[in-house]
Amino acid sequence: MERTIIADIFDPKLIGNEVCVKGWVRTRRGNKQVQFVALNDGSTIKNIQIVFDMAKFNEEQLKPITTGAAICVEGRLVESMGKGQTAEIQADKLEIYGTADPEQYPLQKKGHTLEFLREKAHLRMRTNTFGAVFRVRSVLAYAIHKFFNERGFYYLNTPLITESDCEGAGAMFQVTTLPLKEIPKDENGEVNYSEDFFGKQTALTVSGQLEGELGATALGAIYTFGPTFRAENSNTPRHLAEFWMIEPEVAFNDITDNMNLAEDFIKYCIKFALDNARDDIQFLNDMYDKELIERLEGVISQEFVRLPYTEGVKILEASGKKFEFPVYWGADLQSEHERYLVEEHFKRPVILTDYPKEIKAFYMKQNEDGKTVRAMDVLFPKIGEIIGGSEREENYDKLLKRIEELNIPMKDMWWYLDTRRFGTVPHSGFGLGFERLILFVTGMTNIRDVIPFPRTPNNAEF
Ligand code: 4AD
Ligand code: MG
Repeated sequence: MERTIIADIFDPKLIGNEVCVKGWVRTRRGNKQVQFVALNDGSTIKNIQIVFDMAKFNEEQLKPITTGAAICVEGRLVESMGKGQTAEIQADKLEIYGTADPEQYPLQKKGHTLEFLREKAHLRMRTNTFGAVFRVRSVLAYAIHKFFNERGFYYLNTPLITESDCEGAGAMFQVTTLPLKEIPKDENGEVNYSEDFFGKQTALTVSGQLEGELGATALGAIYTFGPTFRAENSNTPRHLAEFWMIEPEVAFNDITDNMNLAEDFIKYCIKFALDNARDDIQFLNDMYDKELIERLEGVISQEFVRLPYTEGVKILEASGKKFEFPVYWGADLQSEHERYLVEEHFKRPVILTDYPKEIKAFYMKQNEDGKTVRAMDVLFPKIGEIIGGSEREENYDKLLKRIEELNIPMKDMWWYLDTRRFGTVPHSGFGLGFERLILFVTGMTNIRDVIPFPRTPNNAEF
């Protein structure tokens, strides 16, 4: 008999039909006359209740049905008398695929902490919470592709192994096949990379932007969506060593176009999740964060504040608030500063622009004042920075001067500079941290809980 997924089983048209469902047991309870099993197959937060009439089954047959066991049930779908569910299945046939010894199955009990479940990342997707989070993640990934495809953007795959450090932070994971026990050296005692796999020093990318700019100045509007890697040793609830980033890049867009795109994009994704992952978001709202849906709807309905960094710093200085990190013109803002502006001062998302050039990357377009660059960070409640982007410096001489000032190795940059030598155009783009968006949409508070297998300092198991 053909299987119906549980997400489809609550269709009122199916009532009265013979159906087959397969999934993992969440609970079993009951008495000598009747037993109830809550079954979940991951397709939805909802369980289907299976009713076993003990006139048709014996206790021995049902014994392996413990939490975590995988089973197949055939029976008639009927309207349910129980509260909180519309339909249930009266079982006729039972097949056990795999048992889960209650003495050993780690998720036997309910109500484990998120910390405990992080240690059981190989199984945590079977819980209601992580099922909901990772369904939302998938829905958001689809929303992202849909948004850009509806607007004529092309999806560009940029390399993961690279020789350039886009953000200039220096926090890269080196990629090498050189024998670590016997590293080949040249006459000066330096590592001899000509013997390495690529014949030069390479690392995992921190951003696809530089190659994205090559795409935008050819295809017009592109976006990347892939993993990025940062070896910064920051053990915070908002940083991962391996995270996913979405980076649109558009020829002929200036900073205002870029801000409009970022605001439309993020609102579209949040709305799409509310419309298409409603049950999961409702569950997370009820279990973890009673203001979640209200916050999501608030962000969609309000215009984001657009404010120069200099004005933002004035507001922070005048706030009279004691911050852990001091704030002054020129300081790189910390998430406590960003969240003060968003959560306390404006009470809605803020796009901060025109940062001091010293705290931003080399490629950002320089303003006439000689001090600031046309950067934009989108700041969100509970998160802080969710998007970072800018208009790009399209002037060859200015870009070259900045590269020299910052001592960026020129030999690595020739191909990037070529975009400014041949048909250079104003262009802009940004990067959205995918996990930070998921944090916002699910109301989770630790970034380790929104990526299936988090990579953080000292943690690369599973
Ligand atoms: O601000 P960032 O460093 O910007 C760039 O990489 C640019 N090249 C993007 C562009 O203009 N195309 O990173 C962009 C976003 C941040 O706003 C943040 O949401 C996320 O990526 N992010 C991280 N997310 C998780 N863990 C980390 N370690 C992150 N670092 C940045
Ligand atoms: Mg940034």
